[in-house]
Amino acid sequence: MRHVPRANPYRDSWAGDLDAARAGGDARVSGWVHNRRDHGGLIFVDLRDRSGIVQLVFHPENGAELFSAAERLRAEYVISVAGAVVRRETGQVNPNLATGEIELQVAEMQLLAESQPPPFPLDSDVELDEIVRLRNRTLDLRRRPMVDALVLRHEVVRTIRETLSDEDFLEIETPVLTRSTPEGARDFLVPSRLSPGNFYALPQSPQLFKQLLMVAGYERYFQIARCFRDEDLRADRQPEFTQLDLEMSFVDEDDVIDVNERLMAKLFALGGLDVPPPPYERMAYDEAMLRFGSDRPDRRFGLEIVDVSDALRLSEFKVFASTLQRGGVVRAINCGCRDVPRSQLDELTEVAKRAGAGGLVWAYVQEDGTWRSPIAKFLSDAEVATITGALGGLPGDLLLAVADTAPVAANALGALRLELAARWDLVPEGRHDVLWIVDFPMFGYNESEDRWDALHHPFSAPTTPTGNTAADLDAAGGPGSWGSRNYDLVVDGWELGGGSIRIHDPAVQRRVFAAIGLDEEEAEARFGFLLEALRFGAPPHGGIAFGIDRIVTLLAGRDSIRDVIAFPKTASGSDPLTGAPAPVDAKQLRELGLRSTVAARVDA
Ligand code: AMO
Repeated sequence: MRHVPRANPYRDSWAGDLDAARAGGDARVSGWVHNRRDHGGLIFVDLRDRSGIVQLVFHPENGAELFSAAERLRAEYVISVAGAVVRRETGQVNPNLATGEIELQVAEMQLLAESQPPPFPLDSDVELDEIVRLRNRTLDLRRRPMVDALVLRHEVVRTIRETLSDEDFLEIETPVLTRSTPEGARDFLVPSRLSPGNFYALPQSPQLFKQLLMVAGYERYFQIARCFRDEDLRADRQPEFTQLDLEMSFVDEDDVIDVNERLMAKLFALGGLDVPPPPYERMAYDEAMLRFGSDRPDRRFGLEIVDVSDALRLSEFKVFASTLQRGGVVRAINCGCRDVPRSQLDELTEVAKRAGAGGLVWAYVQEDGTWRSPIAKFLSDAEVATITGALGGLPGDLLLAVADTAPVAANALGALRLELAARWDLVPEGRHDVLWIVDFPMFGYNESEDRWDALHHPFSAPTTPTGNTAADLDAAGGPGSWGSRNYDLVVDGWELGGGSIRIHDPAVQRRVFAAIGLDEEEAEARFGFLLEALRFGAPPHGGIAFGIDRIVTLLAGRDSIRDVIAFPKTASGSDPLTGAPAPVDAKQLRELGLRSTVAARVDA
């Protein structure tokens, strides 16, 4: 229910609240002229405010001056009107409008502001180029889909604040001008005027501060936190975005997951998403990689990946044999009964190659169980039959296989699954899939840099089969064998959130820093404040962060997070509205002790 505005000379009601119950009374409303229609001696105006639209009618008998003022109204003029709320005649009722049973017969009007003709119509069903929308964001934000998205966003944040406050969490702010936090992206840097030559980094997340708050004894913290990452942008990424960040002390994975499942269930209900109630399924990282080729599997469609290596151990087909000998795998997808032309098979091969694979093997299962495939002649009947059987292949089915290292095969077939689902429109409308991914490895090997990188971040607690102390880590077979106490919430193939139980033992933290190539000195220099805090009685703690932009995008059923952010950046990180990023005065640079070595690029 909307709060009734205090009556003043502009309004005593929201436009969208005027319904049949108000018929017979008077009302005063303010807003924008959505459109004006002249009909048979009457003028109709749709008046829009944030709450909705109400139809105004101007009758010539209410005064020639008022009528001619109405004739001069144009789209987006701002007016305030008062008059009688009357029921429309039966044939005139508009069932598509909340206020469609009534209209306001205007007796007086104030023109509050004129408007230039808007560069595009503000009706919600008009498709517009995104750059045009972003350049004219003030007008775009008047359009209904944007209003709905931002209202929903507000409700999401309100629900988060209420739910977590009821669960004894404290909302605490952490700095935006800070030191680098390693979340895996580049930092945005802010030069310091007072300390020339030094820089703040904008936080990629409040990770270290929330851990310090736990050591400080705050036990349950949350924040609606703005985060900054200088990374390549996609539809689901922005250089600045908003997290729900939270952390808890004296907890294990189940405690964190439990609180967050209750919260997420409320948010899914808010968006009207049809998902089963918690507890949500948990799937181990290895299984997700094997069956879906991704640590954020989209299970709304089939096309599961099957490892057929065992059927090929003795194969004479060189490509498979040599891959398997080198410790690689052969994995495949059954695409079902599809007649895909050669040109499309070539395109799919390109998808696999872009994902790192050397190539893609295709095969059609024929009536007699044999294959029509460029590699059919290299495989024995038994091998063909076993693979077909493992994939549940039937005559007419198209099978696609990749032979490579396990990570590359997973990545390539994972990319193919998504490509095929998009091409063949395999995601059923309205279906949603929620699951936790757990049992992550602690590190992934970074081939190009020749080092271990933390899969989540280096503050997650590592595990080994025999225990999780520093001595256990030393005894295990190297960082590549360590697990980690991470958990990610994945919805419809999207990582909505990720977190972990953290390291609270300084000796373990030092082992992890060493594993990612930070020697003692470097670790002290960069993270001395954390290591020191851990030496002053750190409780076991853990937490998670969710992308609020992503949550709202999912709940609103939009494709891009830009559609749920009031003032987003384009894919190139610029803001067409303000022109940011922009050059600054030489004087400003001088004050900061900076000189640019490049001419500023002028973006289109
Ligand atoms: P992580 O890096 O996984 O974890 O981020 C958490 C969530 O934030 C969202 N997200 C983004 N949303 C929009 N644009 C981006 N560029 C972007 N990057 C991330 C995603 C993601 O799941 N400190 C840890 C959390 C923790 O361990 O508690 C962290 O930031 O939805």
